[in-house]
Amino acid sequence: MKTAASILRPEPGTISPTAPASMAYNFLFLLSCIAVVSSSSHAYVYPPLVEGLSFTFYKSTCPDLESIVRSYLKQLFQSDISVASGLLRLHFHDCFVQGCDGSILLDGSFGGPSEKDAPPNLTLRPAAFKAIDELQTLITQACGPVVSCADIAALAARDSVRSTGGPKYKVPLGRRDGLSYATEEDVLSFLPSPTSNVTALIDVFTELDLTIKDLVTLSGAHTIGIAHCSSFEDRLFPTQDSTLDPIFAEKLYLTCPALNSTNTTVIDIRTPNTFDNKYFVDLLHREGLFTSDQGLYDDSRTKPFVIVFALCQRMFFENFVYSMTKMGQLSVLTGSQGDIRRNCSALNSNLSWYAVDGDGHDGKVF
Ligand code: HEM
Ligand SMILES: *[C@@H]1O[C@H](CO)[C@@H](O)[C@H](O)[C@H]1NC(C)=O
Ligand SMILES: *[C@@H]1O[C@H](CO)[C@@H](O)[C@H](O)[C@H]1NC(C)=O
Ligand SMILES: *[C@@H]1O[C@H](CO)[C@@H](O)[C@H](O)[C@H]1NC(C)=O
Ligand SMILES: *[C@@H]1O[C@H](CO)[C@@H](O)[C@H](O)[C@H]1NC(C)=O
Ligand SMILES: *[C@@H]1O[C@H](CO)[C@@H](O)[C@H](O)[C@H]1NC(C)=O
Ligand SMILES: *[C@@H]1O[C@H](CO)[C@@H](O)[C@H](O)[C@H]1NC(C)=O
Repeated sequence: MKTAASILRPEPGTISPTAPASMAYNFLFLLSCIAVVSSSSHAYVYPPLVEGLSFTFYKSTCPDLESIVRSYLKQLFQSDISVASGLLRLHFHDCFVQGCDGSILLDGSFGGPSEKDAPPNLTLRPAAFKAIDELQTLITQACGPVVSCADIAALAARDSVRSTGGPKYKVPLGRRDGLSYATEEDVLSFLPSPTSNVTALIDVFTELDLTIKDLVTLSGAHTIGIAHCSSFEDRLFPTQDSTLDPIFAEKLYLTCPALNSTNTTVIDIRTPNTFDNKYFVDLLHREGLFTSDQGLYDDSRTKPFVIVFALCQRMFFENFVYSMTKMGQLSVLTGSQGDIRRNCSALNSNLSWYAVDGDGHDGKVF
């Protein structure tokens, strides 16, 4: 028998599909939410760290790493807060496609900076890639080439969450960069589509050893950022999705008047630039943007988590830190695996080839 507390704790666990969402039950959640807040212990619970990663990995080799990242992004976000959501999504894509190894950053990877023909569902913001490259330059100036691009992406995602009002958490470091490109096939099979039903979403997450709770929790990242019409127009045309609030749908039709509009809109209509639990409140009001969002409220396996997070932001934050840390350790390379890329957009082997001024026939010089 699962108790309310076992649902709330940011630890592995499933909950019974029949978990009651009654008023009394919700009232208990609310009480426990308030109780926890007033005791205000801000120590988050982390999953076990993968061998080779640690919170103090660069303590001696790059002691200023985290402050360099923080101050660069602080300035960047002052001029354009929207880069924050781009950076958060970048880390997600990096981790889901062949592990958090920076491969999504490579020029030439599907979804990477050079992928001009990527479908809109893969459009990662160019500004986010640029921020990673600029950060790497600053970090290399300060510490030499010791910090991986995958770690920079993880730190940038963390600071994006924090800068927009989300939880302040620690990131295990020590990831190494991958030596191969992310293929189109990997991208398509591991990045869930916004048109997915909950079963398909659970399948993708399960494949990566992530739980149903991780799915709901991590979807909460949609509390910031924007989306293109193409990501949700299946809910407007040819017919209006019945799970969509009609007034919300009317607004969406203004932004996306017909198929193939290139317009964008915010994902969380309540507080689009603030990392909070309003995304879950949106779902309760049938104002989730994607099928993959709204479905979480309509499926008995995921609905209880949606309700809890909508009622209690603290529970969302605690679980978010836990699930993000899990996601951030997916298939990481450590120790002597992979390498430290000297340019986040290119493999070192390609750089050497450049430096040696080859004639384009052979990528390998060593
Ligand atoms: C559960 C499955 C998920 C699906 C189906 C999904 C799908 C999408 C889609 C279609 C977009 C809009 C792309 C566009 O039209 O430009 C988007 C945006 C976004 N996603 Fe997800 N996503 C999922 C999970 C996640 C996770 C786990 C995170 C991070 C932890 C995340 C973070 C974001 C952010 C921050 C944006 C806004 C990007 C921006 O403003 O440029 N998503 N997602
Ligand atoms: C992205 O959209 C294309 C069509 O534009 C579709 O073929 C593909 O399956 C989608 N992939 C994902 C991961 O959503
Ligand atoms: C969910 O999506 C999968 C894959 O797209 C499909 O095979 C399945 O029939 C769908 N399930 C439901 C209940 O719609
Ligand atoms: C884009 O959205 C605006 C309003 O948000 C709308 O007036 C315009 O018609 C849309 N354009 C296209 C091409 O969909
Ligand atoms: C939208 O684009 C698709 C393929 O890109 C095309 O088949 C379809 O006719 C277009 N629809 C409209 C309404 O323009
Ligand atoms: C990094 O690599 C990319 C892709 O090869 C290239 O366009 C860019 O100029 C390089 N950046 C630096 C600073 O060398
Ligand atoms: C990088 O080098 C590999 C061989 O090591 C080569 O096949 C590939 O085309 C190069 N990619 C780019 C973008 O230069």
